[in-house]
Amino acid sequence: MTDYERQMRRALSLASRGPATGVNPQVGCVLVDETGKIVAEGWHRGAGTAHAEVDALSKVTDARGLTAIVTLEPCNHTGRTGPCSVALIEAGVSRVVYSVSDPNPQAGGGAERLRAAGIAVEGGVLADDTEQLLHPWLTAVRHGRPFVTVKWASSLDGRAAAADGTSQWITGTAARQHVHERRALADAIVVGTGTVLDDDPSLTARGDAGELMEHQPIPVVIGERAVPEGASLRSHPAGLIETASRDLGAVLKDLYERDIRRVFVEGGPTLASAFLAADLADEVLVYLAPTLIGGPRLAVTDLGITTIADQRRLTITGLDRLGDDIVITARSV
Ligand SMILES: NC(=O)c1ccc[n+]([C@@H]2O[C@H](COP(=O)([O-])OP(=O)(O)OC[C@H]3O[C@@H](n4cnc5c(N)ncnc54)[C@H](OP(=O)(O)O)[C@@H]3O)[C@@H](O)[C@H]2O)c1
Repeated sequence: MTDYERQMRRALSLASRGPATGVNPQVGCVLVDETGKIVAEGWHRGAGTAHAEVDALSKVTDARGLTAIVTLEPCNHTGRTGPCSVALIEAGVSRVVYSVSDPNPQAGGGAERLRAAGIAVEGGVLADDTEQLLHPWLTAVRHGRPFVTVKWASSLDGRAAAADGTSQWITGTAARQHVHERRALADAIVVGTGTVLDDDPSLTARGDAGELMEHQPIPVVIGERAVPEGASLRSHPAGLIETASRDLGAVLKDLYERDIRRVFVEGGPTLASAFLAADLADEVLVYLAPTLIGGPRLAVTDLGITTIADQRRLTITGLDRLGDDIVITARSV
């Protein structure tokens, strides 16, 4: 492992201390002197707070001649804080080493600006690791829509409910607690009107003892029918977005414009299948319970695939046992 890789690894571990949700990515930065010693560390703590580079620079009195190792190309735009490229130039660093380019059209171009100011710039160090850490955020910004996880729980024979529509509960408590943890990693939880009318879910992210978690993603209901007046969702602590639409592309675009970068689609089968059929699911999260239900209520309905050559192959990225159940995470190839 080279020195830059070792230092980037530290910057990545600092990055992961920041929040995984919200409009901004997790970013870490270390400043090193000419001997390779780390003299300052910084990371981004969420929108409106100092960026990682500025956080690290604030911890040294003189940054002249130092090398900045940063997980994402320094930004080049003024948002709630100023451009990091300018902060690095003004601080007098002599070299900037970053991992992944910033795909945001408004923020990119930092590397060029640094080079134009005479600073040595190198990109691509531990790029695979950063791509993995920032996969949802990078995918969202590259597509200009939120990263979409579609979750469902099913019996071993692929049913999401019994013939009468009841589905609580197919999985056990460990799997259901895992769902709450996954909810808390999203900016929004998306459900169809059918699930709201059938189940009246509260869609809060709760801990083991039922307590509300600190971060509550906003619930979003997709479909033309209205959410009933007395529905539990009307008292969700994060509010409620009613779309009155079935146009998934338009809904995702609107959510992106509201600074939502990660959505967690919790069903039901009609809506989950619509996301899959439209190729708008970046990841599926499937909880499989060792039970058989049979009947018509499949977890995934028609995807418009009529011949096996058109089957949608996925790559499994996670496989865990939760009590009696299994959780599988898979991504589009
Ligand atoms: N096992 C699980 O993980 C799980 C999770 C959730 C729910 N469930 C079960 O699933 C059942 C409800 O499922 P469901 O499939 O009837 O409900 P759903 O998928 O929640 O909602 C379906 C409705 O969404 C609207 N919609 C929005 N966008 C759409 C689009 N692009 N294409 C088609 N429809 C769209 C339509 O209603 P409009 O007429 O309003 O537009 C449609 O009837 C319940 O029994 C529930 O218990 C199981």
